[in-house]
Amino acid sequence: MSTFNLGGQFTFPGTSLTVRRMGYGAMQLAGRDGSKLVWGPPRDIDGAIAILREAVASGVNHIDTSDFYGPHITNQLIRRALHPYPEDLVIVTKISARRGPDGSWIPAISPEELTQAVHDNLRNLGLDVLDVVNLRSMLGIHGPAEGSLEGPLATLAQLREKGLIRHIGLSNVTRKQFEDALKMVPIVCVQNAYNIAHRADDPLIDQLEKERIAYVPFFPLGGFNLLQSAALSDVAQSLNATPMQVALAWLLQRSSNMLLIPGTSSVEHLRENLAAAELRLPPDALKVLDQLASGTDAAQD
Ligand SMILES: NC(=O)c1ccc[n+]([C@@H]2O[C@H](COP(=O)([O-])OP(=O)(O)OC[C@H]3O[C@@H](n4cnc5c(N)ncnc54)[C@H](OP(=O)(O)O)[C@@H]3O)[C@@H](O)[C@H]2O)c1
Repeated sequence: MSTFNLGGQFTFPGTSLTVRRMGYGAMQLAGRDGSKLVWGPPRDIDGAIAILREAVASGVNHIDTSDFYGPHITNQLIRRALHPYPEDLVIVTKISARRGPDGSWIPAISPEELTQAVHDNLRNLGLDVLDVVNLRSMLGIHGPAEGSLEGPLATLAQLREKGLIRHIGLSNVTRKQFEDALKMVPIVCVQNAYNIAHRADDPLIDQLEKERIAYVPFFPLGGFNLLQSAALSDVAQSLNATPMQVALAWLLQRSSNMLLIPGTSSVEHLRENLAAAELRLPPDALKVLDQLASGTDAAQD
């Protein structure tokens, strides 16, 4: 029997893929080149490999990635660190953008571009089939924007029929886009920006929980603007935890379909984040933390 808990397990609906709820987001493993974020190799390649190996050795079996991190570099690091992959490891990737030479994120949603992206992910990860591919809407770069995703979703469905993808998820989508997508193809997860201070997706999360579809928040710690709040720090101190642990524990307690993929380039932070799965937030702490939703006490976008 496994000794790892990491928030318990979750099975993606209609699949045989079961993961522990505390996973790892690999975006922070890519480097940075001036203003080009998530670009180039990390400064410490051995350190990046060590983080991936420690995550898996600690029980993480859900890794979120994309071939546009680096570009290509994060996937190549995952392959170098972990291939041949443990049988229970689920690697979730996302497609629909390419990187410009200036580091920009350019929509790439034609059938040819999406097909190329799937082949790039397969090659860089060293896989014959991708477990889960999220269609990341580029209609809005910084947040969801309404518009049809029918064309790119139809391409993903075809790639699934061809056997290159097992399951399909969505990212950066509105509730309407999720509902429209569900009429076309089974959706196993939705990945949108959400955290203790940024809760616009609350109604969507409740809906997904009823349908047992995973909700996977990106920027769970605030992303490029780390969460900062006096209330968060006070609660953390009272529980002998760190503010980031409280932010992650809050997400795990928020709903049973919440899967976490906090990103870090530091082994110490990885350990701290995984340990957050052991933290139980009592009702009085939850009451204080609920007030962060208004954004009045939390500095985050
Ligand atoms: N679908 C999408 O459009 C989309 C967009 C963005 C991200 N994602 C995915 O979501 C994952 C998570 O998002 P994210 O990595 O951008 O943001 P995040 O997890 O909210 O935060 C990452 C930041 O938090 C810091 N951090 C991590 N653990 C910490 C700790 N214990 N104490 C203090 N600082 C800590 C990291 O710095 P250190 O490296 O120094 O620890 C990094 O700067 C990504 O890795 C990626 O896989 C998806």
